Amino acid sequence: MIEFENVSFTYKKKDELVLRNVTFSIKKGELVAFVGRNGAGKTTLIKHINGLLRPAEGEVRVNTENIIKKPISEMAKIVGLAFQNPNHQLFAETVKKELEFGPKNLGIDEEEREKIVLDIAKQFNITHLLERSPFELSGGERRLVSIASVLTMNQQILVLDEPSFGQDYRQKEMLGNYLKELSDNGMTIIVVSHDIDFISEYIPRVIVLLDGEITADGATLDILSDDDLIRKSDLDRPILLDLVDSIKSKYPEFQSFLKETMIADNLLTILTQEKTKKGGSM
Ligand SMILES: Nc1ncnc2c1ncn2[C@@H]1O[C@H](COP(=O)(O)OP(=O)(O)O)[C@@H](O)[C@H]1O
Ligand SMILES: [Mg+2]
Repeated sequence: MIEFENVSFTYKKKDELVLRNVTFSIKKGELVAFVGRNGAGKTTLIKHINGLLRPAEGEVRVNTENIIKKPISEMAKIVGLAFQNPNHQLFAETVKKELEFGPKNLGIDEEEREKIVLDIAKQFNITHLLERSPFELSGGERRLVSIASVLTMNQQILVLDEPSFGQDYRQKEMLGNYLKELSDNGMTIIVVSHDIDFISEYIPRVIVLLDGEITADGATLDILSDDDLIRKSDLDRPILLDLVDSIKSKYPEFQSFLKETMIADNLLTILTQEKTKKGGSM
């Protein structure tokens, strides 16, 4: 469980606040995305979860305990963080060594380590890359390796800054499904992302940041179908919603068609919401 209570932060004393009165709470096993335009304060915020940055005011609690006095080394056992730029994180000669590093530090013996590395590599479809240097991989592959290397330590909380960046459709699908599975198994997962379509497909709750303040927090489909909020916060509208709109304007009989075919649960949910909002016919 993660709680922020009136957290404010500034990089330099005289500067204006980068986080203002940030308050939210995330339960164990939740899968949540932070969104907001560049400079909104997303990276700054998540660095507070493992103590890399400390609040100027307010309190950050992890598992109900204020973490202000907890050293980063202690927090690293609870919170895994994959940085926005994998180049800042990767360092080993081979992908295998990269993946082994965390478990080795935790004192896990070689046999068990091998198993962890092979399992995670298989899960991420990167087995064929194990002997390669992380630095000769594509951006998307490198991103996957950096996420996989955090997951080898099996922490309770996982924080990923822009995890789907640079990835193709299949990699995103694998990642999205895997994150869902991990959260179903009780891992708390926080994602920072610009990728609204990835979020609308895989992440059930969204928290919106604008100039260091939380402007919305709720169910993903509610938030992303709020056109005013999307505009105000400078976010992209999900392609799914554009699609629904253009189909609706061309084919008024679309809803009964959908009911018959049940193409996608998501589409139906959105249509139902739109209908309730507009009080009746589409
Ligand atoms: N190390 C730093 N020193 C000073 N200012 C910073 C530093 N890192 C980020 N900032 C500033 O803090 C604000 C929030 O940045 P950041 O948290 O990186 O936003 P986001 O991740 O949403 O793009 C921006 O105005 C940025 O310029
Ligand atoms: Mg950032």
